Amino acid sequence: MLIHSASQLLTLSGGPQRGADLGRLGLIPDGAVLLREGRVAAVGSSVELRAAYPAEPTLDAAGHVVMPGLVDPHTHLVWAGDRAAEFELRLQGKTYMEIMAAGGGIVSTVRATREATVEELIAQARLRAQSMLRHGTTTAEAKTGYGLETQSELRQMEALLRLDEEGPLEIVPTFLGAHAVPAEYAGDPQGYTDMVCAEMLPALREWWNQNAGRRPLPFVDVFCERGAFDLAQSRAILQTAKDLGFPLKIHADEFDNLGGARLAAELGAASADHLVKTSAEDIAALGRSQTAAVALPCTPFGLGDPHYTPAKAILEAGGLLALASDLNPGTAWCESMQFVIALACRYLRLTPAQAIAAATINAAAAIGRAGQVGSLEPGKQADVLILSVSDYRHLGYRFGSNLVETVIKKGEVVT
Ligand code: NIG
Ligand code: FE
Repeated sequence: MLIHSASQLLTLSGGPQRGADLGRLGLIPDGAVLLREGRVAAVGSSVELRAAYPAEPTLDAAGHVVMPGLVDPHTHLVWAGDRAAEFELRLQGKTYMEIMAAGGGIVSTVRATREATVEELIAQARLRAQSMLRHGTTTAEAKTGYGLETQSELRQMEALLRLDEEGPLEIVPTFLGAHAVPAEYAGDPQGYTDMVCAEMLPALREWWNQNAGRRPLPFVDVFCERGAFDLAQSRAILQTAKDLGFPLKIHADEFDNLGGARLAAELGAASADHLVKTSAEDIAALGRSQTAAVALPCTPFGLGDPHYTPAKAILEAGGLLALASDLNPGTAWCESMQFVIALACRYLRLTPAQAIAAATINAAAAIGRAGQVGSLEPGKQADVLILSVSDYRHLGYRFGSNLVETVIKKGEVVT
C-alpha cells in the first residue's frame, strides 16, 4: 500500500536523537510511504513514489500528517480495580507517600491484583490497551509490580505476554517485583530485597525459559525511592538481574534524589525514569551514558505537583530524552501519548518537534527497540499514524481530544 500526498510525512529517520539534536522530524512535504509485508519499503515525495510504484494500491492522505506510531516506554498496564477514593483523599490534603505509608497506594492495588485471575487481569488491561492504540500508541512497555509475590508477579507477566500475542498493541514486558514493599514484609525492605534476589529473579529466569519461547528477556525494574527501596537495595536487585542476563530499568528521583539515575548509568540500564529530583551530577552522569532519560509528565500532573523533569538540563548534558505516560492507577491513569506531548510542551518546555521525537524514536531507544519501531525508514515495522490535522504542531498545541484518525500496525489498518 502506498500512502501518498501527506501534507507532512514525519520520518524521524537517522536514529535516536541525543541532546541538542532532539527534534529532527525528517519532514517530507507532500510525502509518501510505501508499506509492504508489514514493513516500510520506501519513503519519499509523493511524485517520486507514485512514479516508482504505479501499480500499488493507494491511500490518499491529502491534508493529513503521516508519522510513525507513538511508543510509550513506561506503563503499568496490568492491574485490577482503581484508586478513585485515594484520588479524593489527595485532593483533601493527603500526600501520595502518606497514603502509601498508611497501607494504601500501590499496596492497595496489590490486594486487588492478587485476587484477580489472569483472565480478569487481561480483560481489564485490554480495555486500556485498546484505548492506547486508538490514541496512537502502537508499541508500549508494560510492567508487572502489583503482585509482589512470585506467583502473582508471574501471573501479571503471563497477562502481558498474552495481551502482546493478542495484539495489535505490541507490548515490551518489564518485571517490577520490587515496586513496593508488600504487607508481608512491612518494615523490612531488606528482607523483601533479599527474597527478590534469591527467589523471585531466579524464578522469573526459569519461568521465562519455559513460557516465553524465543522472546528476548524482559527488563527488570525497581522503584528506588524513600519508602520503597533505597540505593543499596536497588543496586542489589539490579545487579542480581544483570548477572542473570536481564536488561535493566529504574524508577529514580520521583520524590527524592537517592542516586538511582547515577546507578542506572553505572549499570548500563536501558533507561532511568521519572527524574524529577535528579541532581546536576546525576544528570551529567546520564548525559555521558547510554541510559535513556524517560520523563513522565503525567505523574506530577496527576498528583497536582508543580515539579517536572528538568528536560532542558538533560538535553544540555547531551542526554537521550524520551517521554512516557506512566499509565497506572495511582498517579497517572492516562492512555494518551498525545496528552503526554501536550504536557511536555508546557512543563518540560519542549517544542512539538522535540516532544514528538521523544515519543517515537527516542522512546523506542528507551526500550531497546530503536531498530524496529519509532521511525519510518525502509526495513522498519510499518507502524503508521494518519492524523486528522495537516500540521504536526497541532500535537502539543491541542490537548484533550484525539487527533489520530487511522492507526496502522505492522501494515494492517487497526483503527
Ligand atoms: O511510576 N512510582 C511508582 N510507580 C508508579 C505509581 C504506581 C501506583 O501508584 O500504583 C509510578 O508513578
Ligand atoms: Fe512507573
